[in-house]
Amino acid sequence: MRSLRGKVVVVTGASRGIGEGIVRLFAENGTRICLIARNKKRLTAVAKELGIPSKEYLVVAADITRRHMVKKIVNAAVRKFGQIDIFVNNAGVGIHKPITETAEKEFDTIFNTNLKAVYYSFLELIPLFRRQGEGQIINISSLAGRMGVANLAAYSSSKAALNVFSEAVALEVRNENIKISVLAPASTDTGLMSNLSRRSKSPSRAAKKLTVAEVAEAVIFLAKQNTNAWTSMTDIRPLLVRK
Ligand SMILES: NC(=O)c1ccc[n+]([C@@H]2O[C@H](COP(=O)([O-])OP(=O)(O)OC[C@H]3O[C@@H](n4cnc5c(N)ncnc54)[C@H](OP(=O)(O)O)[C@@H]3O)[C@@H](O)[C@H]2O)c1
Repeated sequence: MRSLRGKVVVVTGASRGIGEGIVRLFAENGTRICLIARNKKRLTAVAKELGIPSKEYLVVAADITRRHMVKKIVNAAVRKFGQIDIFVNNAGVGIHKPITETAEKEFDTIFNTNLKAVYYSFLELIPLFRRQGEGQIINISSLAGRMGVANLAAYSSSKAALNVFSEAVALEVRNENIKISVLAPASTDTGLMSNLSRRSKSPSRAAKKLTVAEVAEAVIFLAKQNTNAWTSMTDIRPLLVRK
């Protein structure tokens, strides 16, 4: 497996949950890191709590649903570190509601965050990676994107679209040393999860979650995989029931 030491990594949704866990493991692997979310104070707190030296990290407060902000993220990372090796599209949102109660604005926010922001990142990253001669994108999807899930219609369809979109673009660029992977976790123990399952009546649900660290370890595996090997789509599920 390749070493991550000195690589430049960008993680969106780095202020909490899975993104914070991903940042932690990349930092432990000696990467330089750009932390992205809307809440700048929280991003800075994460970097400080993890003890990342200030010259090794960059915080960019940005709303990834705005195209010019995604451009700003990429430009800022390249300005500070000279390149981007790995970009993790982790930020995502979901709402647990029947479709008739889902407002159009909520529907749009879910698709704009979970799908369109990834498209914006591709528009910036693919030309950059072509100039660099290589680069990797890891998109965090969801098992909910593998099937329709009741009361998660907007969320699960946005993630299903993300899977197919990622695979299509990955096939466009695979002969240019550009790797695009999708990781689809099952329910994970974060604030998003409690939001998505708030209305769930199933008593067993809480016992069947992945931890943030388990999902982050899978991201590190994808990042460390040899340059020649491309894992296109990976599901990660809990094996043991936690009480
Ligand atoms: N938790 C689960 O059960 C689960 C399962 C499968 C897949 N996933 C996926 O894993 C990813 C992370 O989920 P999570 O559970 O860690 O969620 P979370 O705890 O709710 O965190 C979401 C992160 O995304 C950021 N974010 C949201 N909208 C943004 C925007 N417009 N611009 C920039 N940043 C934005 C948030 O920061 P700010 O609010 O500060 O912007 C936050 O850092 C998502 O893609 C989610 O769909 C989660």
